[in-house]
Amino acid sequence: MAQGERSLSLWERARQLFPGGVNSPVRALVRPYPFFVERGEGAYIYTVDGVRLVDYVLAYGPLILGHRHPRVEEAVRAQLERGWLFGAMGELELRLAEKILRYYHPGGMVRFVNTGTEATMTAIRLARGVTGRRLIVKFAGCYHGAHDAVLVGAGSAAAEYGVPTSAGVPEEVARLTLVARYNDLESVERIMRRHGDEVAAIIVEPVAGNSGVIPPREGFLRGLRELADRYGALLVMDEVITGFRLGLGGAQERFGVRGDITTLGKIVGGGFPIGVVAASREIMENLTPAGKVFNAGTFNAHPVTMAAGLATIEVLETGEPYRVAAEAARRLAEAYEDIASRLGLDYVLHRVESMFQIFLGVREVWSPEDAAKADKRLYTRLHEELLKRGVFVTPSQLEAVFTSAAHTREVVEETLQVLEDAFRAAVAGS
Ligand SMILES: Cc1ncc(COP(=O)(O)O)c(C=O)c1O
Repeated sequence: MAQGERSLSLWERARQLFPGGVNSPVRALVRPYPFFVERGEGAYIYTVDGVRLVDYVLAYGPLILGHRHPRVEEAVRAQLERGWLFGAMGELELRLAEKILRYYHPGGMVRFVNTGTEATMTAIRLARGVTGRRLIVKFAGCYHGAHDAVLVGAGSAAAEYGVPTSAGVPEEVARLTLVARYNDLESVERIMRRHGDEVAAIIVEPVAGNSGVIPPREGFLRGLRELADRYGALLVMDEVITGFRLGLGGAQERFGVRGDITTLGKIVGGGFPIGVVAASREIMENLTPAGKVFNAGTFNAHPVTMAAGLATIEVLETGEPYRVAAEAARRLAEAYEDIASRLGLDYVLHRVESMFQIFLGVREVWSPEDAAKADKRLYTRLHEELLKRGVFVTPSQLEAVFTSAAHTREVVEETLQVLEDAFRAAVAGS
């Protein structure tokens, strides 16, 4: 068991200290209680009870080089020796911005913030400021962080007006967010026909990574691009997960469709808190102090984050991390499929480079609505049986399995040794 006596006693304290015992909800899904981590190294994490786990969660995406990559650690240490926060400019933020712009918005500009949540919040305010319009369009099942404008889901089938998915989000705010169906261009067109001249932005995860993993269907992203152009709305590509994961240029390079604004996070901070808004100079110069759309932050462009992010991208630029991570994901995904077939299970597996997820008990998954029909209980059992065998995949059917540059052939082989056994136990127990 990953969760021993020491984790249990920490968990009892945590439940007194934090709502639900945790500081981010998904962490509470590990049952019967979460394990506590002592340290990480390469592809592994070690729990306080001395259990070693192969880590396919990787902090929900940022750690594409694995834990404690030496180049990143060296860059962080070097920055620590120079001090870690100044509230003034440093050269590293320029260098990281130049890297990001090269791959996402050549000739454009960047604003560094601290989380993906802040990035999409700022991008939406920016789009509203630039267009002078109020409404935004998002997709049911896409996640863009924890702020009011995007904590909104689809209302009844007949109405595209959003309803809050969190208590505390006023209905008046939720109504400014219209909700379309992922991979369903017709649902977007319907909204745009009625409200297009009031829509400031269409925000999308180019690969849906918060409903499992669901790739865009042929023509979907291009269709969004065309609709945004036709109605004068801005297209916000939320690449907080996919940015620098699907390749240096993220999903936009991979699928050949460009957003007007890109939001990044996770990987670009090298494992430290970050959010990025990037776009053309014309759009970005609307942000304060150049323009009138407000953004500021004590920790914006944190020097340690800049150092870690820059080192991470420099390592990624060798190409090798992408090769290793994608090969690991390919082998694992093939093994999942092979075992699921041999056990006679219906399943769908979607993999895009180094992220994948399996949906059990279904035959087609092209939308978060399809994903919701998958057998979640069986998925949870599989997570639990893998955990018992020293493998940590996300406890949530609606998150991705990630691999990293540290997931070498040997590491993956170790997982393959226990995979079938875990599948069989999961099926027997569900
Ligand atoms: C696509 C996407 N956008 C935004 C966010 C929010 O990022 P953060 O958790 O850093 O606030 C996430 C987080 O998982 C995400 O997956």
